[in-house]
Amino acid sequence: MTQDLANAKQLAKNVLDLIGKQNIDDAERKMIVEDSVRYWREHVNEGFLQYRKSVSTDYTAVEWQDEGAIFKDINGKEFIDILGGFGIYSVGHRHPKVLKAVREQLDKQSIHSQELIDPLRTYLARLVSLITPGDLKYSFFTNSGTESVEACLKMAMLATGRHHFIGTTGGFHGKSLGSLGGTSKAVFREPFLPLLHWSHVPFGDLQALKTTMECCDFSGDRIAAFVVEPIQGEGGINIAPPGYLKAARELCDKYGAMLVFDEIQCGMGRTGKMFYCEYDGVVPDLMALGKGFGGGVMPIGACVGREATWQKYIENPFLHTTTFGGNPLACAAAIATISVLLEEGLVEQARQKGEYLLPRLNDLAHKYPEVMLSARGVGLMIGMEFVDHEIGYAVAKELFSRHILISGTYINARVLRVEPPLVITHEQLDKFLQALEESIKQVRREIKGEAPLKSAKN
Ligand SMILES: Cc1ncc(COP(=O)(O)O)c(C=O)c1O
Repeated sequence: MTQDLANAKQLAKNVLDLIGKQNIDDAERKMIVEDSVRYWREHVNEGFLQYRKSVSTDYTAVEWQDEGAIFKDINGKEFIDILGGFGIYSVGHRHPKVLKAVREQLDKQSIHSQELIDPLRTYLARLVSLITPGDLKYSFFTNSGTESVEACLKMAMLATGRHHFIGTTGGFHGKSLGSLGGTSKAVFREPFLPLLHWSHVPFGDLQALKTTMECCDFSGDRIAAFVVEPIQGEGGINIAPPGYLKAARELCDKYGAMLVFDEIQCGMGRTGKMFYCEYDGVVPDLMALGKGFGGGVMPIGACVGREATWQKYIENPFLHTTTFGGNPLACAAAIATISVLLEEGLVEQARQKGEYLLPRLNDLAHKYPEVMLSARGVGLMIGMEFVDHEIGYAVAKELFSRHILISGTYINARVLRVEPPLVITHEQLDKFLQALEESIKQVRREIKGEAPLKSAKN
């Protein structure tokens, strides 16, 4: 592709016209689908295309509109969103209150000057200190989950003067070079080694954590932080065993390490508490937030810390900065999200809806053991475990053909996750349960040889 500014000028104009249209005609629809697939292939990543629902199903699904727990493809086909953008849509797609806050802020100021005091950042930081457990107090706002983890790592290094981290097998903390160290899969890490100094222990294995900390202390390779998701998301919806987080807190205190909870996926009300660690009554030194924090409207994350973690950073606030992190639009979205979660009782709703769903999912597992093994989770963070990856994938595909969006955990469909918007209605949950049973029955027919299993991709 050679530089062609005249072409760029025309294309940008055409796309802006499309954005401005509330309704498009058939020819435009066709053009958008063809352009999207072509440009994705030519300018984004051909390799990724086959994993997208856009082409891994019998037709090309290009997303176009969304609201509540529903999104529509460009042809107007409606889907119930059981995936919830991997935890982004806590307050639903385009919650009116979040949209209103962002629009009203947009009419005043979008990005801050970088020099004056921006008020929304300070109000949001205050709010975060009010909704997080214990004495978590300071916030550094970011643009993504991985940046939130990066900030936690740096704060832990500053607070301890150490640079050795412990993560867990099955853990996922992002893919930038610091957080990638904690993400546990070799396939993601190996091409980029050496990373920061990380060791990994089996998730939930307290003895392993204790032994590793003891050995590191003995050898002088001391630990800056233990970084853990209280419920592993990408690892397959694995819940920390009872007492694990509390014991981890005690070990960190004993060995002078920071305890970092990555609540990027399980936080912001999803599990029926504002933050999952509240179930165990454990307060971390640092907490990473992202995904649902911006209400599914703006990208924003946070590194939240206790007093002691911030001291060196206060001495020199230039040790960690970002241009766009904490911008007024993103802060407006996060403030509105917190308001919606509290005013609409969505945290409690997540708990109740999870209690409704989980036993019904386990009933299906008992009924169809050749297909589904079990379901586990808390609130609306649930994993359904299937017999193997191929079977899980086949169920996801069947669900998609019944207008339900669901997906596996990272590059594996053995565990499909149920992380819908917390605003999902009981009627929509029932539709999902019905479609799930139909899908499982269809896959069971395939297993019995009555129909061929579709190839595994996602
Ligand atoms: C627990 C957890 N931490 C960190 C991340 C990384 O967030 P992001 O993709 O916004 O960088 C994710 C994303 O899936 C996550 O689930």
